[in-house]
This record gives sequence, C-alpha cells and structure tokens, in this order.
Amino acid sequence: MNNESLQRRGAAATPRGIAISCPFYADRASNAELWDVEGRRYIDFAAGIAVLNTGHRHPRVTQAIAAQLERFTHTAYQVVPYESYVALAERINAATPGAHAKKTAFFTTGAEAVENAVKIARAATGRPAVIAFGGAFHGRTLLTMALTGKVAPYKVGFGPFPGDVYHVPYPSALQGVTHADSLKAILNLFKTDVDPHRVAAIIIEPVQGEGGFNPAPVALMQGLRALCDQYGILLVADEVQTGFARTGKLFAMEHFGVAPDIMTFAKSLAGGMPLSGVCGRAEIMDAPAPGGLGSTYAGNPLALAAAHAVLDVIAEEGLAERAHALGERLRSRLDAMRAHVPQIAEVRGLGAMVAVEFADASGAPDAAFAGAVQQRALQKGLLLLTCGMYGNVIRFLFPLTVQDDVFEEALAILQASLQG
Ligand SMILES: Cc1ncc(COP(=O)(O)O)c(C=O)c1O
Repeated sequence: MNNESLQRRGAAATPRGIAISCPFYADRASNAELWDVEGRRYIDFAAGIAVLNTGHRHPRVTQAIAAQLERFTHTAYQVVPYESYVALAERINAATPGAHAKKTAFFTTGAEAVENAVKIARAATGRPAVIAFGGAFHGRTLLTMALTGKVAPYKVGFGPFPGDVYHVPYPSALQGVTHADSLKAILNLFKTDVDPHRVAAIIIEPVQGEGGFNPAPVALMQGLRALCDQYGILLVADEVQTGFARTGKLFAMEHFGVAPDIMTFAKSLAGGMPLSGVCGRAEIMDAPAPGGLGSTYAGNPLALAAAHAVLDVIAEEGLAERAHALGERLRSRLDAMRAHVPQIAEVRGLGAMVAVEFADASGAPDAAFAGAVQQRALQKGLLLLTCGMYGNVIRFLFPLTVQDDVFEEALAILQASLQG
C-alpha cells in the first residue's frame, strides 16, 4: 500500500467534491506529528481543521475512550440517558461566559450545532430571520450553507437556500471595513430588507475561521449585544473553531466582556471524537418542545468521555496560557519575516489562532503565494492550511500540546518556505 495507489483508488471510489489537501494517506499520529503510509513524518499544523488542541491521541483522552469502550458505546441519550452527558453539560454551563442559568444540548458536528442553535432561537423568539456575516463559515448543510458568507466553493450548485438569512460585512482592517460599518449595515438592513422584530438571531464567529482568522473588534461584539438587547434579538456566538483554549481563553467570547445568549461549539471539544453542542440561557434552551431536539448519535458516550478528558487536560496543562505563549512566539517570528517577505500584508489573530495574509506588489490578495508557501512547507514536512475570502491566508492550528522542539522545527520550516 503506497500513496500513489491509494490516490488512484480514492479518485475512483470517492467523489471529487471532497477536495483533499494532501497527496498522502495517514498511517498513525501522535501529538503534533503524523506519519503517512510510506513512513514519512509530518508536523501537523492543521490538526484535522482545529480539532486537536490537545494533540493526536493524548494519553488521557485515549484512556478515557478505552475505559468507556468497556462499558457501553451507544444507547441514544434520548432513549437511555447516561451521567457523562449531564456532567459535561454541567461543566460547559459553568465554564461558558455569563453568570446566568444555562443549559446545554450535545450533537455530533459543528453544522448540526449551528442548525440547532437557529432552531432554538426561532422557537424562543417566535421569529424567523437570521443575520450572519460576509466571510462567515457555519457549515455545509443547507441552512448552515445559507448562513455561510462565501459562495465558492461552498454554495456553488447547491441552491436554493433557506430564506430569511441576511449577510452584513465583517470588519477588516485590510479591506477598510470598520466595526461601525458593520453595525451600520445591520441598521440599514432593518430599513431595506427585514423588520428587526422579525429577526430571531445574529450569528457571529468571535474570530472568523475559514474567513481568514479575523478577530471581531471588541466594539463590534459590544455593539451587537446592545443592538440585540434593544430589539429582542438573540446573540449567537459560533465558537466551533475558536473554542477550547485556541484563542488563549477557554472560549473566545471571554475576550469581549459580553455574553452571548447561545453558543455553539464542536471541533477541539472531544480531541478527535465527533461531538458538538449548543449552550444557552436556560429559558431559551427550554423553548423547543420535548422531542424537538436530539438525534441518534448526539452526545455519543465515547465522545463524551473524550471531552471530559480534554477539559481536564486543558486545565491541568494550562493550555489557554500555552496558546497565548505559542501564539506570541509565532507572531513575533512572522513579524520578523516581514522585512524579507514583502508579500506579508498582515499578521493577525487572537492567542494561538494566528494567520498571515499575503498580497502582491499592487496590494491585491495573493492566493498563489499562499499556495506556494503551503506546498513548499508540505515538501519539507509541515502541514499548513489556507483560508480567507480570497484563499490568500495561511492559518496555524497546531496542537497546543506541541513539544517545544517540534514547534521550533516547524517555525524553521515555515521561515524557509516563506523565503522560497
Ligand atoms: C465556525 C464554524 N462553524 C461551523 C463549522 C462546521 O462544523 P462541521 O464541519 O463540524 O460541521 C465550522 C467548520 O469548520 C466552523 O469553523
């Protein structure tokens, strides 16, 4: 079995719509390292798209899964419940921003969490409309695709989409969009397209993920909170990519001094096991009638066991603080590279959620340069992901548990790849 033969079989047996970044197949992985089926080693700064803040196969996580494997693997929580679900809900309710009473429901994927957040917001407000942001990514199901603010490749050929979804621009220093512009666009929407009293929710990523690792200005989040309070709209924070210590806090919303009414999370919650959730004000979460929420696999016991271990590891290994320290090291290295790499237009992020954006000599987005850096890094054994509205951003999603020497090795590869 080698990469080439697997690629041939993959191309014949699976659809091209699942675009694959790497020309090799995984064999095994440990913390921030991954080996392909031919034995080649890579440093994994993609982390399964932000899923592995605690690294591949953290021993605490694998032990927790193994212990649960010996007890039961599935009952369907809404048929036969289990304590680990309740206990994780209690932990999440206590750990999320806001001192108010909260409740949490678990699901399987990020998109499913977002879908359910909208269902809950509609049930709680009796209103249909949702406002999202340009550049947002909320998933690939029909409703979450409608919320997603990027057409290619996510929406091409898949419409029509559910109605009553509106987009406003997300602030961007490079694009010259301020937080005031975004708030004004919402007020404008209330004049031109939708009565604010028909709006159930405004959904926002505190740091846009696929959109380019753009942190929301604090003034935007506070402005949204005030607007939501004024019109009885629910503020939904989509923390699917930002959650679980990536930004230097357990949740990114802790940076903004305001609490959302509803929060969605997934990815790094369960260290590689599929688990997502929606946490919100207790009275809002109780709006859907019994039977209105749930799904067969939602809150899988193996994934819940992993999530408990992940929360323990984040606290015991100080991963929020480590995210901050590693993010600073990466940023200062990238900042130092600016003198040698004129294509670097901006280095930005929050905590370890760092990205570098590239532009050409005319200031236009330079996706070709981002792609070339990504390819050169891959050849040297470092796995990187791109993102951004124009695909001209490289984002860093290394495990927060990455060993110091492996991190340094990766930074050296990055530096060499930036220089060509
Ligand atoms: C902010 C955000 N929301 C939702 C999703 C969708 O999650 P999933 O791919 O698990 O459905 C993603 C995935 O990247 C995301 O980054």
